[in-house]
Amino acid sequence: MQSDIVISTEGLTKIFERGKKREVVALDSVDLEIRRGEVFGLLGPNGAGKTTLIRILVGLLTPTEGSAKVLGRDVVEEIDEIREKVALLPQEAGVYDRLTARENLVYYGGLYGISEEALNKRADDLLDLVGLRDREDYQVKGFSGGMKRKVLVARALIIEPEIVFMDEPTTGVDTLGARVVRNVLRRLSSEEKRTIILTTHDLNEVSELCDRVGILNEGKLVAVGKPSELEEKFKAANLEEVFTGLVTGEGVYGGVDR
Ligand SMILES: Nc1ncnc2c1ncn2[C@@H]1O[C@H](COP(=O)(O)OP(=O)(O)OP(=O)(O)O)[C@@H](O)[C@H]1O
Ligand SMILES: [Mg+2]
Repeated sequence: MQSDIVISTEGLTKIFERGKKREVVALDSVDLEIRRGEVFGLLGPNGAGKTTLIRILVGLLTPTEGSAKVLGRDVVEEIDEIREKVALLPQEAGVYDRLTARENLVYYGGLYGISEEALNKRADDLLDLVGLRDREDYQVKGFSGGMKRKVLVARALIIEPEIVFMDEPTTGVDTLGARVVRNVLRRLSSEEKRTIILTTHDLNEVSELCDRVGILNEGKLVAVGKPSELEEKFKAANLEEVFTGLVTGEGVYGGVDR
């Protein structure tokens, strides 16, 4: 599957039932295409549907309506084939506390049938990359929140995925650590042509890292494009103006679309 489009959704909708007559439309008819090798930023306020979208694309949730394809395969019918090629950094941390940093990586990679020798080699590089080499033999339970986050970033990459989903990779990571994570992601995309979908609330991070962004609001995809294109389209001075205009319903200052 060498198509340029590696993710596509059509009318993707997710409704959570919350007791009788109470439902939440977490995703509302989302049509989206993501291309190979791009860093795609998913933006939106709390509860906009970002994590829900990612969870559907990796097979942790099933859509209520509509469809989605990852690497040409259907996320409901062919999820096993997809899982081999994608990695997820979940929003809620899930490190194995009793394992060391290195063991976390090697154990996880082992679940994908990769040899221990290959995994240890990759772990050398990844632990170096995220700056945890000197702590690699410490149990993760004594790590700080940001350090655990870095272990998870490295763990997601150990399977050498074609597509990496990173749900708030730099949340809770200090300034230098966040820079390290961004550098890793940028390198993966530019040198290795991996596709990266990330969510973040940091618009500076978006400007620095993302080729294109999609803005979700109340489950609807309200804008997609390069940051510069969106600024131009909405006649906004910066991405923050585009974002606040779209999600507050007040319209973008000076914009023509509302
Ligand atoms: N398992 C669930 N059961 C019921 N409702 C859910 C569930 N998961 C998400 N929701 C609801 O779906 C909506 C979208 O949630 P989601 O976690 O996708 O938002 P998000 O954009 O990732 O927000 P944040 O920026 O806070 O991480 C919210 O209203 C949330 O309460
Ligand atoms: Mg989320």
